[in-house]
Amino acid sequence: MHKVIFDTDPGVDDAMALLFLHRHPAIELVGITTVFGNASIETTTRNALFLKGAWNIAAPVAKGIGETLDAGRPHVGWPTGIHGDDGLGNIDVPAQIDLPLDPRPAHRFIIDTVRANPGQVTLIAVGRMTNLARALRDDPEIATLVKAVVIMGGAFDVPGNITPAAEANIHGDPEAADVVMTAPWPVTVIGLDVTTKTVMSRAMLSDIAERGGAPARLLSDISQFYIDFYEHHVDDGMIVHDSCACAYVVAPELFQTRSGAIRVLCGGIADGQTIQKPDARLFPPNAWDGFPSQQACIGIDAEAVLKLIGDTLADGN
Ligand code: BDR
Ligand code: CA
Repeated sequence: MHKVIFDTDPGVDDAMALLFLHRHPAIELVGITTVFGNASIETTTRNALFLKGAWNIAAPVAKGIGETLDAGRPHVGWPTGIHGDDGLGNIDVPAQIDLPLDPRPAHRFIIDTVRANPGQVTLIAVGRMTNLARALRDDPEIATLVKAVVIMGGAFDVPGNITPAAEANIHGDPEAADVVMTAPWPVTVIGLDVTTKTVMSRAMLSDIAERGGAPARLLSDISQFYIDFYEHHVDDGMIVHDSCACAYVVAPELFQTRSGAIRVLCGGIADGQTIQKPDARLFPPNAWDGFPSQQACIGIDAEAVLKLIGDTLADGN
């Protein structure tokens, strides 16, 4: 069993990833922590509570702080054209959800849970890296107590999706992402190099909705707006970015990784770009020296990953 804290900004593809974690038999979801990104922190937190209630998820929800690590960063606006005004595909999520939040801020929830389960917790982060960086800043020792960190973010050998250089989760808080990549904990980065190859067709989603009962039907309803947006980018379906990071945790053999220190550019026209120094390459002294090798994902068996995601969403196996 993998004990998982899911750090998320729901978000349509985040919702799919959450149902995957909830239904996968090898995952024990111990907490959901929210971050802003696909919508404001109020909206992503409301959405996490909505999904927790709709899907009967036991894990507590802890709300993140709604600003970047470096509070001076200008706000860039929410991607309502992709995730809808409500962050969940304009399905009319109720304004208020009558469920309690964990009293701690997200980063404190992460610290406490990691400390209570040394060596056992996997952090899956599929939004901005703000909560993870805050947790490290407040308690650097947790880096040695976490089992693994798996993030959806970044673009190594392909263009970004928010600028030619940067992927959205990293671009939204580059300083936080650089803290996370350079900390002495094992990070695997599932970025656009592989997620953009993982496109779930409309037909596959409707098959999941038929097989997977009411929770899968809700997921399908949430996803339609996002699929319509992606029609301009992919043939017929949705890129399942965040579910790829979850699939990696239970089936790493379906991914190919490259080892090397990873830095994030902070500022300038390539703000938020992720750059890896592969271990196999030698360079004169540079800004990557002295930082731990992390794993950048550069290959995926997309068909097998989609099948794993689809089967898990449909029936939990
Ligand atoms: C990432 O950005 C968000 O819009 C998605 O939820 C995903 O985590 C893709 O760049
Ligand atoms: Ca996300």
